[in-house]
Amino acid sequence: MQYSGITNKVAIITGAAEGIGFAIVSLLLRAGAKVVLNDIDSQKALDATARLNKEYPNSCSTFPGDAGDVEHINALVDFTLEQYGRLDFIVPNAGITLFGDFLEFTPASFQKVVQLNLQGAFFLAQRAAQEIIKQGGGGKMVLMSSQVGIRAYKNLTTYAMTKAALRMMAVNLAYELGEHQININVIAPGATLTARTQQEQPDYEGVWSHLNPNNKVGTPDDIAKTCLFLLSDEAAHINGQTITVDGGWTTAGKYPEDL
Ligand SMILES: NC(=O)c1ccc[n+]([C@@H]2O[C@H](COP(=O)([O-])OP(=O)(O)OC[C@H]3O[C@@H](n4cnc5c(N)ncnc54)[C@H](O)[C@@H]3O)[C@@H](O)[C@H]2O)c1
Repeated sequence: MQYSGITNKVAIITGAAEGIGFAIVSLLLRAGAKVVLNDIDSQKALDATARLNKEYPNSCSTFPGDAGDVEHINALVDFTLEQYGRLDFIVPNAGITLFGDFLEFTPASFQKVVQLNLQGAFFLAQRAAQEIIKQGGGGKMVLMSSQVGIRAYKNLTTYAMTKAALRMMAVNLAYELGEHQININVIAPGATLTARTQQEQPDYEGVWSHLNPNNKVGTPDDIAKTCLFLLSDEAAHINGQTITVDGGWTTAGKYPEDL
């Protein structure tokens, strides 16, 4: 299906040199949008942008840096406005997962997770909303939560708190920004195969697919397709919602004999 309302729109996607973010950029470019690709790894960001511009000439720019840093966020939005003259969509996708026992978790680790996952999303949404309101005509935002923001998993309390907070951020902003025709929704991916998750578990597919009733792990494309829909005109009346994309992982109730 060809979605409407994407062509010539201008988007910022953070943490997008690979994985889910990269898949979102690719689908947006294929649908005719212009994208500013952010990543903290400058070389990977430049390489990804060069690859994408080969396929979709003059459609993608890069502005590498830390998506959790407020100064960088403002510079990223300024760059986008200089480059393309407007801003319609944001996907603060960059996120960090730090595992650790709650009893030992350090303030430095806590700050690191909160700074990227929450502060980054909050201040990109704030600055983008200011610009979109100035422009008029509305805009859309998609936040990247996780199954871990819905149910409890060992050693992930801080990450889980940030991912749950993003869902509440969308609920509040849907209410606060709705009058400006700004929609904000959330995707909660389940186990998704990316370079990072494969590095954490080399047999990622073999190990994680068993969690899901469909016996598959998610792909970055599964998440990107949902994101494209939420950014499109077809999703115009969906606001403040979280969509789970997990192959049915979280539908599974358990009997004692399953444990
Ligand atoms: N992969 C999964 O199974 C999964 C599941 C649930 C939720 N998520 C969420 O989806 C999002 C993307 O996940 P992924 O697995 O594709 O990501 P990833 O860990 O593969 O990282 C993608 C990119 O983000 C960049 N990045 C890291 N820190 C950054 C920073 N401070 N500023 C800018 N860029 C930065 C990395 O360099 C990398 O290129 C994250 O928010 C993650 O929490 C992923």
